[in-house]
Amino acid sequence: MPNKIQFCCSAAEGPGIQLTGISGQIDKNAIWDKKRKYISLLKKGIIPKECNKCYEYKENQKGSFFKNLFQADEKTSYIVVNHFLDCNCNCIYCSQKILYPNQSYELLPIIKHFYKNDLIDLNSLRVEFQGGDVSVLNEFEALLNEFKKHNPKTISIHTNGIKYLSAYETIKNNGNNHICISLDAGTRETFKQIKGTDSFYEVLENIQKLREHSDINIILKYIIIENVNDNLYELSQFLDVVSDIENISITLNIDYRSILSIGKSRKRFDVPPHYYEMFQYAKSYCEENNISYYVNSLEERILEKGYSN
Ligand SMILES: C[S@@+](CC[C@H](N)C(=O)[O-])C[C@H]1O[C@@H](n2cnc3c(N)ncnc32)[C@H](O)[C@@H]1O
Ligand code: SF4
Repeated sequence: MPNKIQFCCSAAEGPGIQLTGISGQIDKNAIWDKKRKYISLLKKGIIPKECNKCYEYKENQKGSFFKNLFQADEKTSYIVVNHFLDCNCNCIYCSQKILYPNQSYELLPIIKHFYKNDLIDLNSLRVEFQGGDVSVLNEFEALLNEFKKHNPKTISIHTNGIKYLSAYETIKNNGNNHICISLDAGTRETFKQIKGTDSFYEVLENIQKLREHSDINIILKYIIIENVNDNLYELSQFLDVVSDIENISITLNIDYRSILSIGKSRKRFDVPPHYYEMFQYAKSYCEENNISYYVNSLEERILEKGYSN
């Protein structure tokens, strides 16, 4: 996060378990002390107030899930690079800009410190770049090289795709690594309305260029945004334009602002019938055109229940 290190996935929801006051060095004990406090509470079945908004907790109220979740002395196996908000576009849905202040710190010295002090599980590390957009992050290439040097299990990159980086081509396809681009539209006009920038065709060109220069998994995302792109016409245009690109995966998401409590109190969201039609349409289209398609577990759960609260 731009102003802290956070230890759990409630990132899109609330404060999570966190370490603030970041500088270049992090004391191993400071991390474990922080975690131990939460582990001992969760193991006793006491839910710390920071966990209240966590959707994992809401879905797994039995508590056993949490008992297994935090192991104090394990090494770090999952790093989300999310300490910056600099970006070259302005999405109407951007949850990051709602949640975090626009400040940053240098991450590379911290990552080097983690590797040097044996704080990282070298066999299972997953690295996920979020942001902001890595394409405008000065230390991105240095960070990527540092991680690549240690051969992590997974590198995933989220980008808007507006700016092409040849650094993407240096990431090998190991079966796990991927680059996810949220296109969210099938037409130039809707793209501009969502992203605040007129770059629809540039993004398509960049996806095509990446496909030609790399065999990495490319995931193209369509976030369904109420009253903006939540219609079959836009979705079908999206599928038609991307289906020409070889070997891609498609996923549909629902705008977090509808299903999670981002910067506001939680309100029940009933999945409208036309959302189901969109998911079904995308699934059938991908099946017919031999395109890989998947739905995240969060969306899967919400679609199954019919609502998110
Ligand atoms: C905050 S973005 C940063 C990375 C990059 N700039 C991008 O847009 O892909 C990280 C991921 O969160 C997703 N995201 C941001 N706001 C969202 C929202 N309101 N609903 C669903 N996904 C969202 C983006 O699509 C992206 O895949
Ligand atoms: S491209 Fe990503 S970081 Fe930038 S505004 Fe959009 S969602 Fe936010």
